[in-house]
Amino acid sequence: MELKTLSLTFVLFGLLVGCSSRRGDSKQAGAETNASPPTSVAYAVSAVTGPSWLKHLGRTLPQTHMGQMGGTQSIPATRRSEPQVETTNGLRATMRKFLPLWRSAPSQAGEVLNESFVLAGADLYRLNCRSCHGPTGEGSPPEINSLIGPVQAASRAMIQRRMKTRGTEINDEMAKEMAAEAEKSLRDRLENGGKTMPTFNHLRGDEVEALLAYLDQLADVPAGNHVARLVTESAARVGEHMVKGTCHICHDATGPGGGHMTMMRAITPSLASLPEEQSLSSITHQVRNGSSGMMMTMGGPQMPSFPYFTEEEIAAAYFYLEKYPPRP
Ligand code: HEC
Ligand code: HEC
Repeated sequence: MELKTLSLTFVLFGLLVGCSSRRGDSKQAGAETNASPPTSVAYAVSAVTGPSWLKHLGRTLPQTHMGQMGGTQSIPATRRSEPQVETTNGLRATMRKFLPLWRSAPSQAGEVLNESFVLAGADLYRLNCRSCHGPTGEGSPPEINSLIGPVQAASRAMIQRRMKTRGTEINDEMAKEMAAEAEKSLRDRLENGGKTMPTFNHLRGDEVEALLAYLDQLADVPAGNHVARLVTESAARVGEHMVKGTCHICHDATGPGGGHMTMMRAITPSLASLPEEQSLSSITHQVRNGSSGMMMTMGGPQMPSFPYFTEEEIAAAYFYLEKYPPRP
């Protein structure tokens, strides 16, 4: 009885800290219960930090396809089609509640960003992977390898099927071992990144499972290798996915902002500067439509468009940046 009250207090404390905190420190109370039931919304949300991935690699926008493969400009012809399974309804409802409150009673609005709803693996892919691997997972080889092969390699059924078409029989045990090995490197890649791919260690255990099940779908792997599931998220968390998975490829966490001078110098403004200098509607416009004509005439690098992000998701990213200010 006493224990129960204590842990309830702990959870409530975690929620309150999560709501009022300006910096989502992952060590806060209640933040590390990955396997907790969907009732807990005290998920670890943390600020985006450090230089952009391109700066980290020492590449400029014209030297790379990273961040530009969303499938909106120079989308390569492909034989694969993109599965259609997305569930951002929960987020839509949340942001519909949040936005008016933010205008009328901003002090109460913050909590709405922590209310939970569900998201599918497809959504996680869109927020974290699509801008490099494209809508179909094929990427842009040789720079961005296709993820189809490695995902198929983690399926015993696919291994056996492939061997058969090559005229080689392979026993169950062997196929199982090969699949397990490939599975391990797939998971390791998300945890530790690749040679030039960023890490995705911000993904929780249940998010990794949901994502892997969606990758199976992209790669036409027979159902059952990973079990499709929905994950419980908050709007702040959706914002975190978009910012860490996509925007941080090109934008530094902190540093100079936008405006006239930066444009003259062709600087990509920092993420920290965005909510300070831009309205939600101008950021939404920029993300959904890409660089305005202004930048083109200045000859600077151009931001691609991301029309596959909904207005609600962009709003979630905006308020995530505001509530969890980026750090150096
Ligand atoms: C910033 C761009 C970028 C993002 C975002 C990105 N990747 Fe990658 N990915 C790469 C690059 C570049 C490679 C190939 C080079 C390397 O292995 O580092 C790669 C390779 C891979 C491979 C291995 C391909 C092979 O041939 O072994 C897999 C699997 C993969 N990515 C999965 C993912 C998943 C899943 C996500 C989303 C959680 C993701 N990637 C997000 C850039 C990215
Ligand atoms: C592939 C690289 C790339 C990615 C990914 C990217 N941006 Fe950009 N972004 C740029 C560049 C380059 C500029 C500067 C040129 C311009 O203003 O269009 C820019 C400019 C902007 C601006 C205009 C700022 C100003 O001062 O006018 C906003 C807002 C913005 N980005 C938001 C985002 C958000 C939010 C994301 C994540 C969904 C994102 N960007 C992802 C490259 C990128």
